[in-house]
Amino acid sequence: MRPSQSRHRLLLAFLSALLLTSSAIADGTLTQRTAIGRDQRLASPGGVFQLGLFSVANNTKWFLGIWLTASPSAVVWLANRDRPLNASSSGVVALSSRGDLVLLDATNDNETIWSSNSSWAAVVARLHDDGNLVLADAAGVVLWQSFDHPTNTFLSGSRAGQDLRTGAVWSASSWRSADDPSPGDFRYVMDTRGSPELHVWRNGRKRYRTGPWNGLRFSGCPDMTTFEDLVEFRFTHTADEVSFVYRDRVGSPVSRLVLNESGAMQRMVWDRAALVWRVFWSGPRDQCDVYGACGPFGVCNAVGAVMCGCIRGFIPSSPAEWRMRNASGGCARSTVLQCSGGDGFYTLRGVKLPETHGSSVDAGASLAECGRRCSSNCSCTAFAASDVRGGGTGCIQWFGELMDTRFVDDGQDLFIRLAMSDLHLETTKTSKLVVIIAAVITAFALLLLSLGLVIWRKIRQRSKQVIKFDDMVRGEYPTYHLETLRDATDGFCPKNEIGRGGFGIVYKGQMVDGQEVAVKKLSAGNSVQGLKEFKNEVDLIAKLQHRNLVRLLGCCIHCSERILVYEYMSNKSLDTFIFDPRRRADLSWRTRMDIIFGVARGLLYLHQDSRHTMIHRDLKAANVLLDREMVAKISDFGIAKLFSSIGDDQVTERIVGTYMTPMCGAAVTCHQSTPWTEWFRSCKTCTASVCCCWRSSVGGGTNEVSTS
Ligand SMILES: *[C@@H]1O[C@H](CO)[C@@H](O)[C@H](O)[C@H]1NC(C)=O
Ligand SMILES: *[C@@H]1O[C@H](CO)[C@@H](O)[C@H](O)[C@H]1NC(C)=O
Ligand SMILES: *[C@@H]1O[C@H](CO)[C@@H](O)[C@H](O)[C@H]1NC(C)=O
Ligand SMILES: *[C@@H]1O[C@H](CO)[C@@H](O)[C@H](O)[C@H]1NC(C)=O
Ligand SMILES: *[C@@H]1O[C@H](CO)[C@@H](O)[C@H](O)[C@H]1NC(C)=O
Ligand SMILES: *[C@@H]1O[C@H](CO)[C@@H](O)[C@H](O)[C@H]1NC(C)=O
Ligand SMILES: *[C@@H]1O[C@H](CO)[C@@H](O)[C@H](O)[C@H]1NC(C)=O
Repeated sequence: MRPSQSRHRLLLAFLSALLLTSSAIADGTLTQRTAIGRDQRLASPGGVFQLGLFSVANNTKWFLGIWLTASPSAVVWLANRDRPLNASSSGVVALSSRGDLVLLDATNDNETIWSSNSSWAAVVARLHDDGNLVLADAAGVVLWQSFDHPTNTFLSGSRAGQDLRTGAVWSASSWRSADDPSPGDFRYVMDTRGSPELHVWRNGRKRYRTGPWNGLRFSGCPDMTTFEDLVEFRFTHTADEVSFVYRDRVGSPVSRLVLNESGAMQRMVWDRAALVWRVFWSGPRDQCDVYGACGPFGVCNAVGAVMCGCIRGFIPSSPAEWRMRNASGGCARSTVLQCSGGDGFYTLRGVKLPETHGSSVDAGASLAECGRRCSSNCSCTAFAASDVRGGGTGCIQWFGELMDTRFVDDGQDLFIRLAMSDLHLETTKTSKLVVIIAAVITAFALLLLSLGLVIWRKIRQRSKQVIKFDDMVRGEYPTYHLETLRDATDGFCPKNEIGRGGFGIVYKGQMVDGQEVAVKKLSAGNSVQGLKEFKNEVDLIAKLQHRNLVRLLGCCIHCSERILVYEYMSNKSLDTFIFDPRRRADLSWRTRMDIIFGVARGLLYLHQDSRHTMIHRDLKAANVLLDREMVAKISDFGIAKLFSSIGDDQVTERIVGTYMTPMCGAAVTCHQSTPWTEWFRSCKTCTASVCCCWRSSVGGGTNEVSTS
């Protein structure tokens, strides 16, 4: 048994023993005529919470506190944290004649140990069933409440944040240790600058941030949405106050949010059947949540083989330390910004937004407007939507370093300013000599061309940015014109074909602004869905965003043509690696592990963590694509759904998917007529020189067999 556990058991036993011998005042109110002593309790009307004097395990000092009746070790509020009563003293809790709630030391001339110091005289103190101790006047007006003075715990309805008019702060500080409730090293406070977020501090140093509130949850806490059926969240940001409150839903068990002695926030829910607290969430969750783990302009990846990386366009600022896995120095820009029109924006997808302390926030602006503002202000380094609802609205602009960025499930898009040359960076293995020769030959031609090019680019750029930002925010998902896609793929030219599957042909395309896309032309006549269902489905798929899913950028519907536009994956699909003996050798074991983890995370998201859980129904190596950094991304999810008339709640008995293709076989002669099961059976041994390919379309139509 762990020491803290045994300590808690002891405490529990001690407090239960205490409770058996004590009497409780059950109506939950204290007036100037009543007082409670050491062996009395004030119980809330429903008996959920109790207030009284208690002592903690080996600590022989006494404290006035409130705890859950069913779990006396769950102390949710404390009065005299800094000034405990001695074991020999006998404490009395009363309403003083001044109308304050006081804790007196009866053995020492009724010395006041603690006072509520309320500014108006209260006539009654009442403990409510939500755990709030309220002092009220004769008219019932609240003069003081324990919810305004949290210790290390927030309960349903108690606020974390700040009253901007009075400056009052609703923050928590941890216990020093399990048996010492005096304020410890950790504090949990709202940072009200920039886009407000909650921080954990240790002795004046920032340790953890939740990420700014994005309309649904804190940017760095994707798991908040997984217990929305138990509690609901409310975030308030007005001129009067910034606060975060949660409420237990009707009928849900009691929950609490605790800053524990090791500096972690824990959300615990009382399991009424098993009589234990279940931890639903805790933060920091991993090494990436440690504030500034990867330094400025670094980005942290908790599942990667290497935790810290630099954002594209940045390089480690001290490579020697970086190699020794000390990333706290962060990264520096590899190319100086041009500022006047020479910069672009790189989209870093799926992240917890960087610290917003020094950023400017305008909740009223659109994302497109935000992009225009940021690109026209040279000191703006990045921008993002402040609210993710409705496809992203509002504007956060960063002006300096981007600190504490990490990848998270269901993360946001962050648009980072880069020099144009970094934006279109391509690594080629051309030798220096060839480059020099080529440069000399083309220098003259370039000189002539450059003047015209500058003018041409100026014009193009102006129109480009407008198109890009408008596409991003119009409607639920962007729709493209058929003309745009025809231009991008040179009229769906076969030379641009990069893949062919049961559902259609995929072309590589390049948009006017240089963005590379994969354009999937769905085979006509295959779809049984109506236009409206199709649009709904595309909208749903477009909303599934995860680092390990290929992003659907939009669609195009033109007469009977239905086209999906995806982000382009420069390293193609996984099967082009693992079924190719030469390229297979390029895959290190580390990369393979990363790919496996990536696929698993993508699937977990599809199956469980996304808002619209779905099964892929056709997962195979060809549907695992690899981006420039060899990050695995699952593609073609939801496609099966686009082609089926089956609703969500119905059962399908039809087999969907792709028959697996045996790669290699012994020297078998395969004929068009050979049944594939027969053929497969004789194809057990593999040799490198003999290879059979067998293809079939879904539904068992044609069998094409070839040997090589
Ligand atoms: C209480 O004190 C005793 C003796 O000092 C010690 O052995 C025991 O571990 C302590 N218990 C806790 C929970 O700290
Ligand atoms: C507790 O006892 C110590 C020493 O006996 C004394 O200094 C301290 O003032 C006492 N505290 C209270 C609250 O009575
Ligand atoms: C201390 O306060 C209690 C409760 O208000 C009262 O009953 C008692 O008489 C007081 N004792 C002294 C010595 O003032
Ligand atoms: C109440 O006021 C007294 C005297 O100003 C001060 O010492 C004490 O800390 C205050 N108590 C609280 C709980 O603020
Ligand atoms: C605090 O919470 C974290 C996260 O749940 C946990 O790992 C740690 O053991 C807790 N510390 C204590 C002292 O309970
Ligand atoms: C890590 O590097 C920073 C500077 O980049 C340096 O200040 C710090 O001392 C280093 N930390 C360790 C543990 O070496
Ligand atoms: C750029 O933004 C900063 C910070 O908001 C502001 O101080 C500055 O005036 C802006 N510059 C321009 C040219 O708008």
